[in-house]
Amino acid sequence: MAAKLRLTILVDNLAAAGLAAEHGLAFWIENEARRLLFDTGQTDALQHNARQLGIDLARTETLVLSHGHYDHTGGLPLVLSQARDARLFAHPGIVQPRYSIEKETVRPIHIRRPAMLALDRLPPSRIQWVTQPVTLTTDMGLTGPIPRETDFEDPGGPFFLDPAGTRPDPVDDDLALWLRTEQGLVIVAGCAHAGLVNTLQYIQQLNDGLPIHAVIGGFHLVNAHRERLDRTLAALQQLNPDLIVPCHCTGESAVAQLRDALGDRVTPGAAGMSWQF
Ligand SMILES: [Fe+2]
Ligand SMILES: [Fe+2]
Repeated sequence: MAAKLRLTILVDNLAAAGLAAEHGLAFWIENEARRLLFDTGQTDALQHNARQLGIDLARTETLVLSHGHYDHTGGLPLVLSQARDARLFAHPGIVQPRYSIEKETVRPIHIRRPAMLALDRLPPSRIQWVTQPVTLTTDMGLTGPIPRETDFEDPGGPFFLDPAGTRPDPVDDDLALWLRTEQGLVIVAGCAHAGLVNTLQYIQQLNDGLPIHAVIGGFHLVNAHRERLDRTLAALQQLNPDLIVPCHCTGESAVAQLRDALGDRVTPGAAGMSWQF
């Protein structure tokens, strides 16, 4: 069965004492077979926290971008400059221009220019564009695009592909990571723009119905309406993971409701938290 692996939150909106917090997300995942960085945060929190936690980003072999939003891709130039052989895995849609438009305020949320330049400079041999499920090792894989099956989930915000707001952005590039451990599946999400329940159900399908041990990441329930929250809670109760770690864009009220419904197994994430599976 799978070798032990360690998962550490490197960047999150919350952080342990001595670490930097920012609106962003990054995880470090390491086992005997692979050293993987999942997302890179927004600014320089990644560098600071990695140093404080004794994680050498130069050792990154696999760099995964969950989707092309600025708060997951800001550390890209830094990581690519340090990890000279790292291979990047992401959906080709990450490079699209994209905007959040609220009350006529248009905010660009696409990958920032330094990260785009770093992507442009990366030789094609070091990029694997992910358009379908990918197995990284026997016990690690990426979903690729996640089918949108539920009728109560949406991308989670007023997202558009143009600043005029005429083309809704379904965030088709959103992908998640799964890890097979002795305790069951460990699922790592960036922002879950495909919907948390869609993500969990699809990963379970890809893994022959293996039970879900842990779910960690941004659940993007910050704008969720009542029905979506209720049905998400019901689905989590049914899938019954042992550990649920809402991070980043989950939203304070959603975290409180997750705790009410699912109890102590819900532990809000913060940079510096780490688990061995
Ligand atoms: Fe995000
Ligand atoms: Fe996002």
